[in-house]
Amino acid sequence: MCGIVGVLGTHEAAPILVEALKRLEYRGYDSAGIATVNGAGKLDRRRAVGKLVNLSDRLVHDPLAGKAGIGHTRWATHGAPNEKNAHPHRSGPVAVVHNGIIENFRELRNELAAEGHAPETDTDTETVAMLARHHLDSGMTPVQAARATLARLEGAFALAFLFEGEEDLMIVARKGSPLAIGHGDAEMYVGSDAIALAPFTDRITYLEEGDWAVITRAGAEIFDEADAPVSREMRRIRMDAARVDKAGYKHFMAKEIAEQPTVLADALTAYLAGDDINIPTESLDFTKIDRLTMVACGTAYYACLTAKYWFEKLARLPVEVDIASEFRYREPPILPGTVSLFVSQSGETADTLAALRYCRGKADRIVSVVNVETSSIARESDLALPIHAGVEIGVASTKAFTCQLNVLLLLAIKAAKVRGTMSADEVASLLDQLRGLPGHFNAALDRDQTIEKAAIRISEARDVLFLGRGMMYPLAYEGALKLKEISYIHAEAYASGELKHGPIALIDKTVPVIVMAPHDALFDKTVSNMQEVMARGGKVCLITDPAGAAEAGEDVWQMITMPAVDDRLAPLLYALPAQMLAYHAAVAKGTDVDQPRNLAKSVTVE
Ligand code: AGP
Repeated sequence: MCGIVGVLGTHEAAPILVEALKRLEYRGYDSAGIATVNGAGKLDRRRAVGKLVNLSDRLVHDPLAGKAGIGHTRWATHGAPNEKNAHPHRSGPVAVVHNGIIENFRELRNELAAEGHAPETDTDTETVAMLARHHLDSGMTPVQAARATLARLEGAFALAFLFEGEEDLMIVARKGSPLAIGHGDAEMYVGSDAIALAPFTDRITYLEEGDWAVITRAGAEIFDEADAPVSREMRRIRMDAARVDKAGYKHFMAKEIAEQPTVLADALTAYLAGDDINIPTESLDFTKIDRLTMVACGTAYYACLTAKYWFEKLARLPVEVDIASEFRYREPPILPGTVSLFVSQSGETADTLAALRYCRGKADRIVSVVNVETSSIARESDLALPIHAGVEIGVASTKAFTCQLNVLLLLAIKAAKVRGTMSADEVASLLDQLRGLPGHFNAALDRDQTIEKAAIRISEARDVLFLGRGMMYPLAYEGALKLKEISYIHAEAYASGELKHGPIALIDKTVPVIVMAPHDALFDKTVSNMQEVMARGGKVCLITDPAGAAEAGEDVWQMITMPAVDDRLAPLLYALPAQMLAYHAAVAKGTDVDQPRNLAKSVTVE
């Protein structure tokens, strides 16, 4: 996923564009660039490979004037991450920035080659600029040229065009990738999301699928795919610009780990009124549901795997869980009585959105659990449930994961209540425990030094295994993902009971085995697995509670003792040591914690 920004302003555009790009860098950071049109109508650009700071340095030594501009931070899809392939792409008097994938760019490129237009880069985006130029050369106006170009594009795109000689014109379009228009005072902005525009305006208009717009400083004229003028709601998006600041932490991830007690408490306040869980039954009646399919990617998928245990155990509701990229192409039958539920922090993950669209018209209800309430997935759901995690900048998802679990657990309890599989007293008791969870999170955060010590030892390993049973099994997957995505250490997760069916061959004294095991009904089984590992020289890092530590903590290589909590709440709490282990291991290895190599915060391409 990439980030695009644009401004038609009354001040120099370059610093505004860089400031806005800073807020989008979590979307991708292989390269960055800006283009401006100055007062004389001259179009020019500056680009730099790598992080945004490299572009800022470039602009210090080679400044770019102009009050109209577009900017881009890239996560490479087509073409290596180098300066040649960095956006904005330019063809003669046209510059363009793009988030998405143009699927028919080779066909277009061949057509243009036949007309004598030779590409200079390996990117799909350059083809867009070349096509617009071709239409300009044929005598079209900039608006006509941009519109004719859009009509030929297949795939997903959020685009912003700038034209030489047009100091008060920007053409933008949205198809498959989000785009927001910001309304200033005699200034106009565009951005891939409202976060980018937070320092400049809170008056935001989101383009709908297929929309395109002609923007001048006087405002935006929006048209739908059939070129009919449309009006889209302008909202006040109270995006606290400070909330996208590290607030004194070394990394966004550290801040977001530490925010979990607060945001979980916020979410519980939002959803609970006494023992009533205010999830609207009229749009989700669990008495009329025979099964639930849950679909997501990455960490959100592990949240779904965890929630399966809650829905089946508490509400006796059958649940199928699937990875979105598999689900959408397997085209599973969706039977009557099915609710399809999609979990996504960004609400823009292409595979998850495609899976949702597959279920449209098949499932009885489309429900989503999201962090961005204005996202595509939220807007295409019958019911979108916010997780109230606040802005999550770190690419590795932390507070969003526990907030997803929180909402999914509340859903499962609500289902149990209306289906009569939990009594009012049982519901009240579990909700009481849940209200106490932020306090346990705070207590667990105090284990930071112990966790850091274990993480530094783990950071020396080449391979790491995570083991879990029952609801801890998906948590083992989440722990492995956290470690590998930010420390680059190879990590795998197994159900503890699976170890002896092959993976135990991997065990030797070089392989740390992280066992996530509260003292629950399955604890003894897990202890046996742990001993099988230790008998073969494996180094066990046991994450458990005081009862587990007392029973099986002797002789383990490392031990992390968590506060004792109700077994059903353990998945939320045990996410914390997994996040902290990964964080400290990455810091020990000196990797880029907030912007790990090759990753982006939300994958809006297939
Ligand atoms: C999580 O740490 C990863 N960054 C990644 O797996 C992420 O959870 C996945 O891409 C899904 O993103 P979404 O929740 O925005 O849909």
